[in-house]
Amino acid sequence: MMNSPSAFAKVTAHAAADVSETAEDAIVSRRSVRAFLPDPVPMALVRHILEVSARAPSGTNMQPWQGHVVVGRKRQELCDAVVDASLNDRGGHEKEYKYYPDKFFDPYLTRRRTVGFGMYDLLGIRKGDTLRMKEQGAKNFTFFDAPVGMIFTIDKRLEIGSWLDYGMYLENLMIVARQYGLHTCPQAAWPSYHTIIKRILDIPDGETVVCGMALGYEDKSAVVNDLRTERADLDDYITFHED
Ligand SMILES: Cc1cc2nc3c(=O)[nH]c(=O)nc-3n(C[C@H](O)[C@H](O)[C@H](O)COP(=O)(O)O)c2cc1C
Repeated sequence: MMNSPSAFAKVTAHAAADVSETAEDAIVSRRSVRAFLPDPVPMALVRHILEVSARAPSGTNMQPWQGHVVVGRKRQELCDAVVDASLNDRGGHEKEYKYYPDKFFDPYLTRRRTVGFGMYDLLGIRKGDTLRMKEQGAKNFTFFDAPVGMIFTIDKRLEIGSWLDYGMYLENLMIVARQYGLHTCPQAAWPSYHTIIKRILDIPDGETVVCGMALGYEDKSAVVNDLRTERADLDDYITFHED
């Protein structure tokens, strides 16, 4: 049976000032955090958040999500192996699915550039400084120092509809985390290293690595966490038919 939220009141007390009280506040205060404190997250709370997240809807209730939570030594083993592979690029690392189009176009190209430049500006990384960009990218593979790392997979036989369901589950997770003063970063950087991930976490080849996710308490002193992203105006993407 699922725990009630009050069961975690004590363990989350130190993050009380960062707790979201309403669904709207949790949604608006969620953002991708890219530097975490080492403070551990109680495993009972991680389990609770994952159980609540699984209340996400899915077509015919198929619940296509499958995941791995890594903390401690397993997390370290995974991070060490993938940081090494990413920094000493020996090639052969490609996603099992295509996240982005081969050629970007507007308005998506501009939005993507805005967030990228915004982050590099904050970090003082200049255009063309590929080494520092690569080092920043490799921080993905320490889960940005979050104590809890998660790797999500999906059965290869499932179709695009299940990926829609999957997104709902992942968003639930990121929103519920806010209720406990926790932050997240969803990470599509991980799937490129699916061969290493599958070996270390013993994941069968019939699964596709969907993404990783960092979970923990925000390091508010880290400048990278000052990044705030914009959203398009409502009327740019929704058409209201009112007559
Ligand atoms: C599925 C998914 C994968 C993402 N992968 C990464 C990633 O690998 N590394 C990263 O730093 N941010 C990643 N992001 C975060 C996006 O850059 C971020 O959501 C976007 O810029 C909007 O900012 P916000 O999350 O702070 O609102 C990912 C987001 C999503 C939804």
